[in-house]
Amino acid sequence: MPVQTLKWQDNALVLLDQTRLPEEVLYETCSDVETVAQAIEILMVRGAPAIGLAAAYGVVIGAQEAIDCAPAEFRRRVEASIDRLARTRPTAVNLFWALDQMRALLSTHPDSGNQTIRDAFLATADRLFEEDRRICRQMGRNGAELLRDGSQVITHCNAGGLATADYGTALGVIYAAQEAGKNVAVFADETRPLLQGSRLTAWELMQNGVDVKVICDNMAASVLRSETIDCCIVGADRIARNGDVANKIGTYGLAILAREHGVPFYVAAPVSTLDISLASGEEIPIEERDPAEIRAGMGKVTAPDDVPVYNPAFDITPNELVTAIISEKGVVHAPFEPTLCTWVET
Ligand code: MRU
Repeated sequence: MPVQTLKWQDNALVLLDQTRLPEEVLYETCSDVETVAQAIEILMVRGAPAIGLAAAYGVVIGAQEAIDCAPAEFRRRVEASIDRLARTRPTAVNLFWALDQMRALLSTHPDSGNQTIRDAFLATADRLFEEDRRICRQMGRNGAELLRDGSQVITHCNAGGLATADYGTALGVIYAAQEAGKNVAVFADETRPLLQGSRLTAWELMQNGVDVKVICDNMAASVLRSETIDCCIVGADRIARNGDVANKIGTYGLAILAREHGVPFYVAAPVSTLDISLASGEEIPIEERDPAEIRAGMGKVTAPDDVPVYNPAFDITPNELVTAIISEKGVVHAPFEPTLCTWVET
């Protein structure tokens, strides 16, 4: 991948500032927990796997900030850092999955010194980072089987290298198909209100030499009717055990359109995005964001400044609209529940 989403450098987390793309490629250094938490909140780093990784490195930073404290105070401050990072965004389960692994280290090191615990945090964050790189490539290979040479695909939001360590989930499937010698053309929904599709997916695909056209979200129906679209592929922020999928707002609408046009709708997500503790998507918490994102999107006033706004960041696509879920473990069609549970438990 030509651009790195996040990296650990000189005891700090360095993030590609995704709020500045595609205009500028700028990196920001986060050296304290509050800066990491705010970076997640403002979507400087975003996408389910990437925020899990950023939070894991955030815990290392929390440990560094408390390194000179007495052991009990060190542990209290690390717990407080984990709690702060957990309050950033509620929907993507990868955040909690990563933080739970970091928290568990405190119990597996009951008598270790502060530096040893900090080093164990860093080793775990590095492991999660490397695993994400490997998992996305395996997921990509699994999903690439569903594409043919010349496929045309619609995607929504950004589920690419920018949303993971470096390769992507939905876009990873497209990269893997390209690597297998199949040409794939992508229609990228622009993804109102924050334009992850036009700002990030289009930019990332162009960086990687993939044929991409941006469409406004309200053009998807017409493109599905007028073009030969082989499938839609999206990522996910959380998948309940029945296969209901939380992903960027607008995903549900695209899934309905795909069904209406007889086009397969695929969801690519790592096993860390599965939340089998939830029976259905109704239990997934949906983040609501600042009305300003809609009243003045990207700094341009687009609505009266006092108009009431509803701004959910995600929606739930019911499992009956999902043709298959692609993960690093394979590809599953309905009924989803038995296989999703097996994937998590093995
Ligand atoms: O609000 P965002 O930009 O974090 O939303 C991201 C998405 O909805 C992605 O599709 C999802 O996290 C999958 S990323 C591999």
